[in-house]
Amino acid sequence: MLNDLREKMKEIDPERLPRHVAIIMDGNGRWAESHALGRVMGHRKGAESVRVAVKTCRELGIRYLTLYAFSTENWNRPQTEVSALLKLLGEYLDNEVQGLMDQDIRLAAVGCLESLGESVLAKLREATARTAGNQSMVLNLALSYGGRDELTAAVNRMVADALAGKLAPQAITQESVAGYLYTAGMPDPDLLIRTGGECRISNFLLWQMAYTEFYFTEVLWPDFRESHLLKAVAEYQRRERRFGMTSGQIRK
Ligand code: IPE
Ligand code: IPE
Ligand code: MG
Repeated sequence: MLNDLREKMKEIDPERLPRHVAIIMDGNGRWAESHALGRVMGHRKGAESVRVAVKTCRELGIRYLTLYAFSTENWNRPQTEVSALLKLLGEYLDNEVQGLMDQDIRLAAVGCLESLGESVLAKLREATARTAGNQSMVLNLALSYGGRDELTAAVNRMVADALAGKLAPQAITQESVAGYLYTAGMPDPDLLIRTGGECRISNFLLWQMAYTEFYFTEVLWPDFRESHLLKAVAEYQRRERRFGMTSGQIRK
């Protein structure tokens, strides 16, 4: 088993792993359509891919995995689909927390969580509390998340703090802005994977992805497996991250 994993991971340099991987899990609807199933079946099938991605990242040694599960714009979908997605989220929390405990994974969530409703919110709070002591990886779910919404909420809180005398306007830095975001305390994503073939970020982590490496794949999320994730990480490791500098400076 272990040999099998080593064989598959031989392309991966354990010294140069992305610390934080973010995934836009897209293509559930198209997967369902191509199998003559309803869209909700695509979302249900997608939950299996979540399990695989979490396990693979954990085994690789990735420290943060952020999954875009529901965007602020997704509220505009038909009510039946929105309800089904919230129900699936509740089921995921009911069924997967023990697995997260077994893998020593801490659950976190970013987004306008209050809008998820009392039932899901209670499960989410319980799951984050139960896994709070886990150390090996953070699984961060982006729920009712929008990048512009996050930045607007941050500006509102900063202004309130400034008016209350708790934040000196002349002392605002990039670090203090980051501290007002939902992702406060987390490193920025090193690698973004988007499945489903679209090449856009759909309002995801706008501030945090200033220097993230983007990887787009045609694979639909319900078909996404360990080999696809390893391929994305291997591609990430072939890139030279220059952060505005020259190759010469980076290679030194
Ligand atoms: C992603 O799959 C899941 C969510 C956005 C919740 P989609 O439902 O967007 O699938 P497509 O893009 O319609 O195929
Ligand atoms: C992005 O996918 C949001 C999630 C995966 C949760 P969408 O399917 O909602 O994005 P667009 O509509 O193609 O931009
Ligand atoms: Mg989509």
